[in-house]
Amino acid sequence: MSVTIRQLHPVFAGEVSGVDMRQPLSAEDVAAIDAGMNEYAVLVFHDQNITDDQQLAFSRNFGALELPGSASNITKAKDRRLGPEMADVSNLDANHGILDRNDRQRMFNLGNLLWHSDSSYRATPAKYSLLSGRQIPAKGGDTEFADMRAAYDALDATTKAEIEDLVCEHSLLYSRGLLGFTGLEAAEKANFKPVRQRLVRTHPVTGRKSLYLSAHIGAILGWPMPEARGFIRDLTEAATEREFVYAHQWRRYDFVMWDNRQTMHRARRFNDTGEARDMRRTTIAGDIQTVEQAA
Ligand code: OGA
Ligand code: MN
Repeated sequence: MSVTIRQLHPVFAGEVSGVDMRQPLSAEDVAAIDAGMNEYAVLVFHDQNITDDQQLAFSRNFGALELPGSASNITKAKDRRLGPEMADVSNLDANHGILDRNDRQRMFNLGNLLWHSDSSYRATPAKYSLLSGRQIPAKGGDTEFADMRAAYDALDATTKAEIEDLVCEHSLLYSRGLLGFTGLEAAEKANFKPVRQRLVRTHPVTGRKSLYLSAHIGAILGWPMPEARGFIRDLTEAATEREFVYAHQWRRYDFVMWDNRQTMHRARRFNDTGEARDMRRTTIAGDIQTVEQAA
């Protein structure tokens, strides 16, 4: 089988055929998918009925895994449903029951409804995310992706010059604060200390620039707070205009991978206290701190 990719949206996102994730991939297939990620930034695979081990094996073709751990969530080890290498993006508890409306874990995970880039709150943020749809609700629960390269390209020259060297602070405290989620424990707050990220990133292979936005941003270095937050909100609004957005409507066993360096994404609402949505994510670690990079 050989990998082919069909573009799904006018500016990005591709649908891949010719891959069976239950089998090992050839070096050629891995190279074709990597090239597809550079070009399309989001890749969709259908009909991948895989186990967690098969997801892990497929993911490792693209680099070292980033482990979720206490840096990215408030779920206690004893409450985890999945192994330590998998991020649980479901609405389920350790016994596969649906989380209650007021469950802390549920309320924390609702942060995924805000436009974000995965792990932008880590000093070295994630490269790729790979999400497997094991159980899909009857209605709602799409995932939307926005192309931050196209969004950057569309900015006027004055704005591009103004943002070129800006550095933002990112933290889970900021994104959860936006939603009014309070009641974090002292240890959790300590885990979520802000990190610095450039606002403009350059892709290491294609050289394309992109806006590195995320709901985790709470400040711009050297800017008064209200001015920074107002500006980030404006940029986010412009960057998520419909012309830059691909909305993925999940079918069971869809598998979507995206480049966090070039896109943002968000979950859309569904009846999450009534229906199960079992999504499992693996994450490929990044290899550089954005503040070490030239814009
Ligand atoms: C993620 C995420 C959105 C969704 O897996 O990182 O934000 O639709 N998912 O579940
Ligand atoms: Mn995410």
